Amino acid sequence: MKLSLFSILTFVSLVHAKSHAARSPSLNKAHSRPLAAHSSSVSKAVIAQMFEWTWDSVAAECTTFLGPAGYAFVQVSPAQEHVQGPEWWTDYQPVSYTLTSKRGTRAQYANMISTCHAVGVGVIADTLWNHMSQKNSGVGVAGSNFTHYNYPGIYQYQDFHHCGGELNDNIVNYGNKTEVWTCQLNDLADLATDTDYVRQQLATYTNDLISLGVDGLRLDASKHMDPNDIANILTRLTTRPYITQEVIYGAGEPVTPALYIGNGDVQEFRYTYALKDAFLTGSISSLQELDNRGWVAGSGANAFVSNHDTERNKASLNAYSPSNAYILATVFSLAHPYSRPSVLSSYTNFYNNDAGAPNSGTGTCTGNVGTNGWFCQHRWQAIAGMVGFRNQVGSAPLTGWISPSSQRIAFSRGSLGFVAINNADSEWSATFMTGLPAGSYCNVVDGTSVAGVCTGTAFTISNDGCLVATVGARQAIAVHVGALGSGTVMPKIAQQVPVLFYENATTTYGDNIFVVGSVPQLGNWDPSNAIPLDPSNYPVWAATVYLPPNTAFQYKFIRKESNGNVVWESDPDRQDTTPASGTQSIVTSWR
Ligand SMILES: *[C@@H]1O[C@H](CO)[C@@H](O)[C@H](O)[C@H]1NC(C)=O
Ligand SMILES: *[C@@H]1O[C@H](CO)[C@@H](O)[C@H](O)[C@H]1NC(C)=O
Ligand SMILES: *[C@@H]1O[C@H](CO)[C@@H](O)[C@H](O)[C@H]1NC(C)=O
Repeated sequence: MKLSLFSILTFVSLVHAKSHAARSPSLNKAHSRPLAAHSSSVSKAVIAQMFEWTWDSVAAECTTFLGPAGYAFVQVSPAQEHVQGPEWWTDYQPVSYTLTSKRGTRAQYANMISTCHAVGVGVIADTLWNHMSQKNSGVGVAGSNFTHYNYPGIYQYQDFHHCGGELNDNIVNYGNKTEVWTCQLNDLADLATDTDYVRQQLATYTNDLISLGVDGLRLDASKHMDPNDIANILTRLTTRPYITQEVIYGAGEPVTPALYIGNGDVQEFRYTYALKDAFLTGSISSLQELDNRGWVAGSGANAFVSNHDTERNKASLNAYSPSNAYILATVFSLAHPYSRPSVLSSYTNFYNNDAGAPNSGTGTCTGNVGTNGWFCQHRWQAIAGMVGFRNQVGSAPLTGWISPSSQRIAFSRGSLGFVAINNADSEWSATFMTGLPAGSYCNVVDGTSVAGVCTGTAFTISNDGCLVATVGARQAIAVHVGALGSGTVMPKIAQQVPVLFYENATTTYGDNIFVVGSVPQLGNWDPSNAIPLDPSNYPVWAATVYLPPNTAFQYKFIRKESNGNVVWESDPDRQDTTPASGTQSIVTSWR
């Protein structure tokens, strides 16, 4: 992956006057400086959620990719001591505020922050104010003893809510606001955040994170705290970091996202659900106006195509979604002005619901893809390219929306960027009216602009702002004034043929099935670039891959085991040829 595109960008510094030199941009909205109308600068906008990455590997990724690519923030896993166990959710069960977790030590956490700051990336701490652990007793990962309501030196029985309620102190009735706020979520010991003592303990812990340079807080399970309790704790902090609150919307419930807007950004899950519906079954033409739906206003929302919970519970699209829907929805989320966007970076075996991080938590990526069980979505060409798009267009208005059919949309962001998304199974040829100046532009969905030469598809915009293009089936194009290309003639994105792979393969826990083959779309025989298959209909694993028409290709299925082993199907290579048009289905069994 060449990074020259990003190195030519200049970033607007949002550094607060009093911050020390290494401090990264504060995203506190009151402090951000508006862009000049024709500024050549860009402002950084996007959060990368580096789910379950160790502190050392996040630090390395900030330097290698996240900083140069223009990510504003990394959101990292909780830093405090937690219960032991291989599962990912152990990180969400604190037992003390010692900064030792499966992701690393206090020194490694501090080093990650300073390393990310040095390349302009802020750090958002996933922060647990609502609860402690679920287990009755044990020893945490840093050696602290605990029982369910006794964390020696920190909390005792009276520091927790004991609501009685319908079921052993647990939340049963989401129609009762008091219950949602003061009973337990699945046995997690619920801190009495309405008491002065607990508020001060939480503030002291958070101020420790801030002293190490943390720039933002993701407040886990905010929905299960009274927003006034959150507000009180925020007044006790030494600075006001960027805040995003997890308030999962539930239809008809009294605890709504709107109750929390005074504290900072609120995660708007209705957006996540709406994108899943629109891209899989509904119509993406419905997505123009998002500020008139009763959701949290875009200016106070943090939104995503998927997070670590919704990729598992299938409330959202995820990397196994069919027909390129996950990528197209992510292109949309980074092109549309609604909300501060987050991009999830996760690992391949999340359908094994409890499975913790692969590769002992050390995140690894090569080029634009993940290795050793990681997806590295933050590096995928379309996603990284759209981070640059989002930074470049800033707050420019959405203009020139067109939607000639329910699954085709195109729009501009003022005079700075243009996107066309074709979520249909046939190509879309059109003369698009853009707001952009004449010139040659690089499609950042499939390439980067390196010293003015586009590594992907280039498009020419004429003096009257017209862009003549054919957008392939389930493809998108996105161009912006920060990524010019050298194309002088209008190239055509060839009509792509959807190839549906169905592989019947019995596997053991932790295994995943991929397809790899002789063409770039199938990873050029490189297992680390293989295409994951979706096990939703296990034992039949499925994936849709778009290939050029009338093209012969060879392929095999491979099994990636949780220990990193790659097992290939037996010889010979399988082979097939795509038709001139239509759909190709391949139904096979592991051999
Ligand atoms: C934890 O409890 C064990 C057994 O009661 C005890 O031996 C040990 O010293 C305790 N550790 C700490 C850090 O308190
Ligand atoms: C709501 O829940 C609280 C806490 O369990 C309980 O004390 C209260 O009676 C409940 N209110 C109603 C109307 O059920
Ligand atoms: C998958 O293969 C197994 C073993 O050959 C077979 O019993 C089963 O019917 C197959 N399932 C489907 C859906 O093809």
